[in-house]
Amino acid sequence: MSKILMIITGGISAYKAADIASSLRKNGDDIKIIMTASAQKIIPPLTLEAISSGTVYTDLWERTPSNSISHIELSRWADVILVAPATYNFVGKVASGLADDLASTILAATNKPCLWAPAMNDQMYKQNIYHRNQSYLQSLGHRFIEPQEGKLACGEEGKGRLAPLEEILDSLYSLLSRCKDFKDKTLLVTAGPTVEKIDDIRFLSNRSSGKMGYAIAQNLIERGAKVILISGPTNLPPPQNLHAFQNVQSAEEMKNAVFSFYDNVDVAISVAAVADYTPLITKEGKIKKTDAHLTLELTRTVDILAQMGEAKKHQILVGFAAESHNGLENARQKLEKKNLDMIILNHISAMQKDDNEISILTRKATFNLPLSPKKIIAEQINNHLLPLI
Ligand code: CTP
Repeated sequence: MSKILMIITGGISAYKAADIASSLRKNGDDIKIIMTASAQKIIPPLTLEAISSGTVYTDLWERTPSNSISHIELSRWADVILVAPATYNFVGKVASGLADDLASTILAATNKPCLWAPAMNDQMYKQNIYHRNQSYLQSLGHRFIEPQEGKLACGEEGKGRLAPLEEILDSLYSLLSRCKDFKDKTLLVTAGPTVEKIDDIRFLSNRSSGKMGYAIAQNLIERGAKVILISGPTNLPPPQNLHAFQNVQSAEEMKNAVFSFYDNVDVAISVAAVADYTPLITKEGKIKKTDAHLTLELTRTVDILAQMGEAKKHQILVGFAAESHNGLENARQKLEKKNLDMIILNHISAMQKDDNEISILTRKATFNLPLSPKKIIAEQINNHLLPLI
């Protein structure tokens, strides 16, 4: 039995929410329903309450039975939030960070997975503004079900009908099961470059953007994991709902951060492009130029992943191999040498890009994945990780 919080906004198809609610009830789920003011014009809360036998909430200032503030308690209570139907206005409102009624305030206050089933006029659905808002919410981990083509409430034909009941239920249940994939597991992810100081204004680093590591961390959070992200400098906002986040600069700092958590994690995924060398001597202030050549003496950094491999007890260890040639051979060597369970081979040209083309190597097999957005690659890497834990 799952706890499902349904938000019904004011599209004509709001009346179909009664079917969704009663189907969920029949399946044994516990539901609570929030209606916006416009939804109540289409279907009265009492009717919905009677059909679905779920409690209906309409007012931001209403007290729940335990007398606490309703938007906080309701958002904590739910396993998942379903917005159906979701109007153009409501998608835009939440994407803009507005929270002026119970429904939008719940979404502002929640850290639970959210599934949206939009329904609107087809011209409204085609608007770039709408898709900008939907994409922004998707980038934060919200999921959307596409509306259907067909005759619309306004009399026009097009894409904008609420998705069929079965499709909404299927998506909801698969989201519910997906967000338990890594439940009770703690995963450590390293991401981004490290920065090795030469003097107070200069450093050695590399082109890693952190996109791949952040996408993996975000995907794991959506799937119920406790995620610790240790990151070198990037321009990315850390994913929401991290268990812990630590910003580091040098390989040495990254190693210290990693080993402060390592004993207590179930899985460590080393995505960071850790510098292999660091200046032997770091100068205070600024190195002044002279007419002579300048030789920088570099010393090896610690191989953090290899150390994790040596210290491995119960942990599953995943590494990345950034290669320019002989990729498969080098990746398999790293898998063995660093005592890993899985390694992801990618070409160095993927650095900074939004897409990646990878091979996943385990002790037993190799899987080649085609060029895809890093978000999709992250989902697939985590799918391959799942059977190992
Ligand atoms: N790694 C690490 N510490 C280092 C260097 C690498 O933890 N000092 C990790 C990376 O995060 C990655 C894996 O080791 O998961 C492989 O990194 P990569 O740069 O592909 O290879 P290297 O081991 O550094 O070897 P080479 O540079 O010779 O390819």
